[in-house]
Amino acid sequence: MIEVRGLAKSFAAPAPRRGGAWRFRARAEAGASVPANAKPAPGPVRVHAVRDVSFDAPNGRITGLLGPNGAGKTTTLRMLAALITPEAGTMRVDGIDVVARPREVLARMGVLSDSRGLYPRLTARENIVYYGALHGMEREAADARAQDLARMFDMTALLDRRAAGFSQGERMKTALVRALVHDPANIVLDEPTNGLDVLATRALRESLRWLRSPEGGAKCIVFSTHIMQEVERLCDSVVVVAHGRTVATGTVPELLAKTEESDFEEAFVKLAFVSELSAAGAAL
Ligand SMILES: Nc1ncnc2c1ncn2[C@@H]1O[C@H](COP(=O)(O)OP(=O)(O)O)[C@@H](O)[C@H]1O
Ligand SMILES: [Mg+2]
Repeated sequence: MIEVRGLAKSFAAPAPRRGGAWRFRARAEAGASVPANAKPAPGPVRVHAVRDVSFDAPNGRITGLLGPNGAGKTTTLRMLAALITPEAGTMRVDGIDVVARPREVLARMGVLSDSRGLYPRLTARENIVYYGALHGMEREAADARAQDLARMFDMTALLDRRAAGFSQGERMKTALVRALVHDPANIVLDEPTNGLDVLATRALRESLRWLRSPEGGAKCIVFSTHIMQEVERLCDSVVVVAHGRTVATGTVPELLAKTEESDFEEAFVKLAFVSELSAAGAAL
């Protein structure tokens, strides 16, 4: 079970390059005189990646974080995986605070990051077993589990190949098996279908449905996507994120009812882009 409340995170982004100001600063640094009315070089700008994200993801359910590019999905999931610290808000995994007790949280959570992050010189098996060992598993147990999962994800033939040169789908499968090696109760996937073909996407969907089922362990599954059809096909509940905020939560039928739409794409556009549309309207 994952509970996220009022999450916020901003980044200092490099200053924009503005010709004049930069030229003058360079000249001033070189000791040359600059005109009195020269503007100072612009300072770094803050990007508010996540402003206010909240959601609940129960066990035995697939919760979809749906939002356009740049909405703050990856930043949210990186905070959940304790890779970066939030500026505000709380996150609990099975009741454990992520910021206060990250190691305990990671023992209960499998994370598929957007970069996948495999060691290219290691084989798929070595990548998986190494990760299991980091979680305190015996090598033999991690290897047996890698073998079982590889069978389930139809990637046995990949196990003893080096990750360098893997296709996107092969990288995703390997990273997914790695994320599941310690049999976590919570599974967090950042855009897992990115770059997958239709068959690989279907296979992934099937695996997630199995992991959600009682036989598969009734896992708590959170996955992010910018594709409406993904959540329509797979998710028990949807969290719509736009401009770093949770703008709506519910099942697909609930979100359709809320927006008075019959088509989920229309509903999503209404929910995710309404602030942009009204801002554009105000500007006209
Ligand atoms: N490390 C970073 N430094 C500066 N800006 C960042 C950083 N990470 C994310 N951002 C910005 O935060 C916003 C949200 O990004 P992200 O969480 O990756 O969105 P999504 O995954 O929904 O596409 C974007 O505008 C992105 O450029
Ligand atoms: Mg992302």
